[in-house]
Amino acid sequence: MKEVRWGIIGTGGIAHRFAQACKNSDGAVLSAVASRSIENANSFADEFGIPQRFGSYKEMAESDAIDAAYVAVPHGLHAACAILFMNNGKHILSEKPITINSSEFFKMTECAKRNKVFLMEAMWARMVPGTLRLMELVKSGRLGRIKGIQGSFCYDMSDEPNHHAFSSDSGGSLLDVGCYALSFASWYSSAAVEKITAVADIGKLNHVDEHCCILIKYTDGTIASLSSAMMLKKPNEGYLFGEKGYVKVGRFYAPEKLEIFIDGCPEEIIETPYKGNGFEEEIQEASRCISAGLTQSPLMPHSQSAYILSQMDEIRSQIGLTFPCDVK
Ligand SMILES: NC(=O)c1ccc[n+]([C@@H]2O[C@H](COP(=O)([O-])OP(=O)(O)OC[C@H]3O[C@@H](n4cnc5c(N)ncnc54)[C@H](OP(=O)(O)O)[C@@H]3O)[C@@H](O)[C@H]2O)c1
Repeated sequence: MKEVRWGIIGTGGIAHRFAQACKNSDGAVLSAVASRSIENANSFADEFGIPQRFGSYKEMAESDAIDAAYVAVPHGLHAACAILFMNNGKHILSEKPITINSSEFFKMTECAKRNKVFLMEAMWARMVPGTLRLMELVKSGRLGRIKGIQGSFCYDMSDEPNHHAFSSDSGGSLLDVGCYALSFASWYSSAAVEKITAVADIGKLNHVDEHCCILIKYTDGTIASLSSAMMLKKPNEGYLFGEKGYVKVGRFYAPEKLEIFIDGCPEEIIETPYKGNGFEEEIQEASRCISAGLTQSPLMPHSQSAYILSQMDEIRSQIGLTFPCDVK
């Protein structure tokens, strides 16, 4: 199989993690990096031994050095970056959330279709072995029908006031990490959403949700209770409660351990370590799909990103959080 030549857009925290993982990912080779500054591009490229470096995103988009680009800029810029690269015939793996709202995502998918390129949200949590094992467990029926789902992804960013999670044009805990909790719930609830209810604490300084709590009722009676926060720590655990038992999933967005309880008693612990830093599976999945000529991943199709974005649109309307791009 021909290796997919990847280029990274941006040189921040997550770009570093992707570059590291790319070295251990079958079917992928890291060929280029683009930064707003050539100095940053050079130092990033030197750190990871990347042959091509660009001092602007546009230059890399227009070059023949890459087949696919990984969007690793703050989420308010995902759509514009992805569209720039797709219009230049490049496949896209975009960090989560793939963009800010459903209408921006519609523009991205239309662009992908027009240019016949691959587009996938980098939801690494969907690809890691722990999630795949958990899906098998639920399917096996050992827990009975899942009737309750719980998950919180909360962290404290008070010492990083300049982080993009505080940005008033695309910040907040919902978009930053609530998307993981919503995704977790979506993977274990097959019925349609009947009702979503959300409340949030909106920060006085930056006017984004610092803490958001969400209840989702599905038409089969299942209820999910989810939360996200960026100025508050909580145990970042997930639970699936079934008719016969439940499973505790430590760090449900990258589970490495599944603790199974039947009739309230501990029954089994399944270790599910992931390879490397956890990004290898998503890089391999995107590279595999691109090499096979697919425009979507069956594991993380456009419909899944659209589903989560529509829920986040609804939640933001309930908590009164709008961004400039919502009204375009
Ligand atoms: N999958 C995960 O586990 C995970 C974890 C953290 C973050 N993320 C996602 O990854 C994306 C990037 O997050 P990050 O934590 O890597 O951010 P970061 O450390 O702030 O880096 C973002 C990079 O984007 C580029 N950039 C372009 N325009 C910018 C602007 N106006 N302001 C700031 N940076 C700008 C910069 O690179 P240049 O200056 O070199 O162009 C910067 O280094 C976000 O969408 C986030 O949600 C995912």
